[in-house]
Amino acid sequence: MPDLWTEDPRLAALYDIECAGRWDHDLYLALATELGAASVVDIGCGTGVFAVDAAAPGRRVIGVDPAVAMLDLARTRPGGERVEWIHGTADDIPDSCADLVIMMGHVAQYFVADDQWTHLLGQVRRMLMPGGHLAFETRNPLVDWSARWTHAPPRWASPRRQRDVAISQQR
Ligand SMILES: C[S@@+](CC[C@H](N)C(=O)[O-])C[C@H]1O[C@@H](n2cnc3c(N)ncnc32)[C@H](O)[C@@H]1O
Repeated sequence: MPDLWTEDPRLAALYDIECAGRWDHDLYLALATELGAASVVDIGCGTGVFAVDAAAPGRRVIGVDPAVAMLDLARTRPGGERVEWIHGTADDIPDSCADLVIMMGHVAQYFVADDQWTHLLGQVRRMLMPGGHLAFETRNPLVDWSARWTHAPPRWASPRRQRDVAISQQR
């Protein structure tokens, strides 16, 4: 078994089911619309749910992730052909290609050491066009999130998320 769950195809395939009911996709999509973002980079795009939804007509979207198992799901997702997928990290994104860079699903918390975070911010600056934006969120590390996990179906799942879960369950 791989060291990282993101590199295990069986665990990666469970990710969208596990993440049903998320509120953050709609928030980031609304932000992209509000900012009029014509080019979006999704760092740590995972299984690509957000990147595919963000890839509306007239908007270029790049999704980058170092985990092959996650990217394989992203590439084969319906609509995946609308996104430019890059296997790698922020270092592999071209210069000045984005007016919005996002890191969602607490990707920012993968950069633990100060030098990792500083390097990442430098890469984000490099890929952003003048006046561009970076958006990310973090989870409160003081909360025991695992104690809140449940097998109950998500009551609050949006129609889009319910569709994504249904697609995942068919795989
Ligand atoms: C919790 S998942 C979030 C996936 C996706 N952003 C979402 O919200 O569903 C974290 C992702 O970050 C990716 N990741 C880990 N280290 C990374 C790095 N240095 N650069 C970019 N992505 C990274 C992982 O491979 C994984 O797909």
